[in-house]
Amino acid sequence: MIFQGQNKYFYLLVLKSTFAPQMNFSRHLQKTVFRAVQQAALEQHAEAFVIGGYVRDLMLKRLNKDIDIVTSGDGPALANRTAELLGVKRVSIFANFGTAHFIYKGSEVEFVSARKESYRATSRKPDVEKGTLVDDQMRRDFTVNAMALSLQEDSFGDLVDPFNGLLDLENKILRTPLEPAITYSDDPLRMMRAVRFAAQLNFTIEEKSLLAIKENAARLEIVSVERTMVEFNKILLAKKPSVGLKLLFDTELLHQFFPEMVKLHGVEKKNNYAHKDNFYHTLEVVDNLRANTNNLWLLWGAVLHDIAKPHTKRFEDGIGWTFHGHEDVGARWVPKIFQRLKLPLDHQMKFVQKLVALHLRPIALTKDEISDSAVRRLLFEAGDDIDDLMLLCQADITSKNESKVKRYLANYEKVKLKLVELEEKDRVRNFQPPVSGELVMETFQLQPCKEVGEIKNAIKDAILDGKIQNNYEEAFAFMIELGKALNLVPKN
Ligand code: CTP
Repeated sequence: MIFQGQNKYFYLLVLKSTFAPQMNFSRHLQKTVFRAVQQAALEQHAEAFVIGGYVRDLMLKRLNKDIDIVTSGDGPALANRTAELLGVKRVSIFANFGTAHFIYKGSEVEFVSARKESYRATSRKPDVEKGTLVDDQMRRDFTVNAMALSLQEDSFGDLVDPFNGLLDLENKILRTPLEPAITYSDDPLRMMRAVRFAAQLNFTIEEKSLLAIKENAARLEIVSVERTMVEFNKILLAKKPSVGLKLLFDTELLHQFFPEMVKLHGVEKKNNYAHKDNFYHTLEVVDNLRANTNNLWLLWGAVLHDIAKPHTKRFEDGIGWTFHGHEDVGARWVPKIFQRLKLPLDHQMKFVQKLVALHLRPIALTKDEISDSAVRRLLFEAGDDIDDLMLLCQADITSKNESKVKRYLANYEKVKLKLVELEEKDRVRNFQPPVSGELVMETFQLQPCKEVGEIKNAIKDAILDGKIQNNYEEAFAFMIELGKALNLVPKN
């Protein structure tokens, strides 16, 4: 029997289990933790079920380490006793929410008391009222996330699926257990989750759900930007991120937190010249890159590489559309975008900024005869991020003109070879000037002044331009020459 709650869903469930063959998944519930929950629940005269993402992923044969348990009893009490049986010392309890969790063998095990949730309009924090299993299931986001498996002795592993999640899973459809407007207004983050699951699992969002998202997109306002970005980042790491990014645009969820990206959308035409749609181009670059990387921040480089194109767009007679300096303006925008979206501001942001600033450089190299000096400069500026930069630039080749793409890619291989060759020879990738500012000051008996900086820079340029070798002897001799030109006399 499914809890003691007396509501129509309860009777529906009984009816369903009378006519539908009971599906049992006990062979998939072999973990010690499930047996411990079973025993603890028995002792506490409560019922317990594993529910949500764990069950969904079990059916989809996806790995999910996080286990959610729902109980007719008290979530924290069940968590405490289960932890005791497993020998787990630390249990975190959130009494106000009736939830508790602990870590066991690398899995996060979370316990909740079954509840009827109602959310306040201005916040995501729920007022909690005790409910039945079905109450709990119907307040969840999607039918595929509302399936539960019994942990009771007599029904261990039985599927409890009052909203036909299994069927939706087979049909790859995201449907809300209640009217979509209710489910989404209960927790607007679910609109982002819908898009994320659609991208991650390659599911379709049910039509009326999609409409409800469009209508309620502005409600994302009450969701913290950190939570929104968790979903956005998961979309970027989906196999084909463009599926989710396009859905975000179409539903106008993107408009709520990322206006710069929305502005990339659209094509302008003048005197028969049309520029490409930079939004769809960006999506293509992200997809291309995703095929070759799991690095989230490299994918952010793709998202932002052309972000300042709308801002720098000009029409020049006889030339057409230009976007001069979009890489520099874009790089300058990166910190403020990261700050607003509460993304990490340290090395990850610096890395993305570097990618945006340098994203045209390898492609520019392929256009001319490749000079050693230009390649050395690129190596010097990109440092250890050169390989990631090359991946981004390769993904950026999205022309429909096949022969153009072929030519670019062939030239690209040449640049890559040159990069390897020069790095082996000159070691400029992590270039440290062989002559330091201190040595310049000591040699010419100078206090810190602008000449010191000029000499250091001139030495660096001479190395990058291949005028001198990257070693102490040649750099020192060159410094003496520079000093002479500035009327500086070296000490004996
Ligand atoms: N849930 C919900 N509404 C939310 C978040 C979660 O109804 N806004 C419910 C769903 O039943 C979900 C379960 O809580 O399956 C667990 O949520 P969570 O761990 O955040 O997500 P998963 O569905 O497990 O998916 P993933 O692990 O991929 O995030």
